[in-house]
Amino acid sequence: MLDRTDARRLADALRAAGYTYDEVAARLGTEALDGLARNATLPADRALAGADDPQALLIRCFALQQPVPTAGLRAAIGEIVDRPELVRPADTTRVDRPTLVRAADTTARTGPHGSSEAAIEIRPYAFDDADGEHAGWLASDLTPILDGRVARPRADFVLGLSPASVTLAQLTMRTPVARALDLGTGCGVQSVHLATHAAAVVATDLNPRACAMTRLTADLNAVDLDVRQGSLYEPVAEDTFDLIVTNPPYVMSPPQGERLVYREGTHTADGLMHAVVTGAPARLNPGGALQVLGNWAITADQPWQDRLAGWIEPTGCDALVLQRERLDHYEYIELWLADAGLVGTPDYARRYAEWAGYFDALGIIGVGLGWLALYRNERDQPHLTIQDWPHQVHQPVAGAFAEFTGAVTAARRSDAELLAGTLTTAPDLTQETLGRPGAADPEHIVLRRTAGFGRAVEVDAALAAVIGACDGDLPLGMLIEAVGGLLEVNAADLVAELLPRLRTLIADGYLRG
Ligand SMILES: C[S@@+](CC[C@H](N)C(=O)[O-])C[C@H]1O[C@@H](n2cnc3c(N)ncnc32)[C@H](O)[C@@H]1O
Repeated sequence: MLDRTDARRLADALRAAGYTYDEVAARLGTEALDGLARNATLPADRALAGADDPQALLIRCFALQQPVPTAGLRAAIGEIVDRPELVRPADTTRVDRPTLVRAADTTARTGPHGSSEAAIEIRPYAFDDADGEHAGWLASDLTPILDGRVARPRADFVLGLSPASVTLAQLTMRTPVARALDLGTGCGVQSVHLATHAAAVVATDLNPRACAMTRLTADLNAVDLDVRQGSLYEPVAEDTFDLIVTNPPYVMSPPQGERLVYREGTHTADGLMHAVVTGAPARLNPGGALQVLGNWAITADQPWQDRLAGWIEPTGCDALVLQRERLDHYEYIELWLADAGLVGTPDYARRYAEWAGYFDALGIIGVGLGWLALYRNERDQPHLTIQDWPHQVHQPVAGAFAEFTGAVTAARRSDAELLAGTLTTAPDLTQETLGRPGAADPEHIVLRRTAGFGRAVEVDAALAAVIGACDGDLPLGMLIEAVGGLLEVNAADLVAELLPRLRTLIADGYLRG
């Protein structure tokens, strides 16, 4: 068995052999790395050009899923190669034990010609934050999609780094906090990020195998995590947090047929997402936040915004929800049937019809994909922003989520306070004008933020003139009066017209008070 000391020894050996993100990237080059990101191993295999040094062997074994000589692997990472299991001795539950490497053929694995292959993925992983670069590894199951073949994953399959993991990491607010929760931790990637700015991190997962992988990830990265197995908030029923992050299973498939815990969970349709949202306030400290990357059902009987508001309003929290993409029910079903490797199989039509019938019975006509943040700000009148935002954003958008609470507070000042105070424009704000060549005035004026969500809004000449003068010098009331004078309109009327619009612009971060 591989205990914490063994895992750290393994990390040292991987580092010594050059199996780190930067060194592997340098060895393979951009094209081969891009190929691996598309699950194509041939470009990387060609880049290695038959080499069998320790770094090449580790890349072949753990990244390309190729058999490698056991003796070479042992020389690279030591006698850990000969140990069958990875679960630490302290684990008393009979979790399905992830094995590091296994025999690649029927011949003796440890003999002079024996070969081994990876049984799990050990993936070099690196990211930058305010403290500099962090480099380590993520432990997960081997990707089942490689070089065009789609293998059927085990029911308790543990997903490695996915595009959704990366997006959630990019939208997570990185403000230093005391306690953070990574709900549905999978391979532990969010926890590795959280550990850089949270004094204590709890990682939970329904899947015991995911808990074992996350422990291994934690040990490989020398990160302290409190890993607990269980559903939703059950393992943390006595705890509260300053930040909760999660990307719960996103596939709303019918109950018939095998369900994979990493993508389907155990709830009906988006029931898990609903439970994550409604259960959050009790687990959040005042001022704390929940951030979710998830899917929600779009039903025939109400606008999606109203359905989500129905979940959020009882929480008493402020909320910022951006729907990034909307798929109709058929597109959604086709997407996941393809992901399951069913295209071209005799099962396809039956599964399609079953799924469509399931959605019909639940009144689901589409699926929204997006980002949801709840803020336990304890306002008498919580502020909900729930909108479609399919436009290009500028990652990481963490800062845009972090500025939301302050922006809402600033937007809620009384009329008198707003008019007596000064405003400045967001540093990334630009103005675009559009019109006929030679025309005295533009036909359209658009204000666009070039960071964060990349918000844009069309404004009229009076509002543009006021905003253009917001440099933190003169009080807002004086600016509106001056613009009223220029445009020859009554100042009081202009105040009444512009203040509500200015409030919205402050809440959306175009202006700062
Ligand atoms: C899409 S994966 C996300 C993994 C990881 N957070 C990431 O960013 O890559 C969803 C995870 O939620 C777990 N899960 C499913 N149902 C759950 C539940 N009811 N409670 C807690 N975790 C659950 C799955 O086992 C899986 O690890």
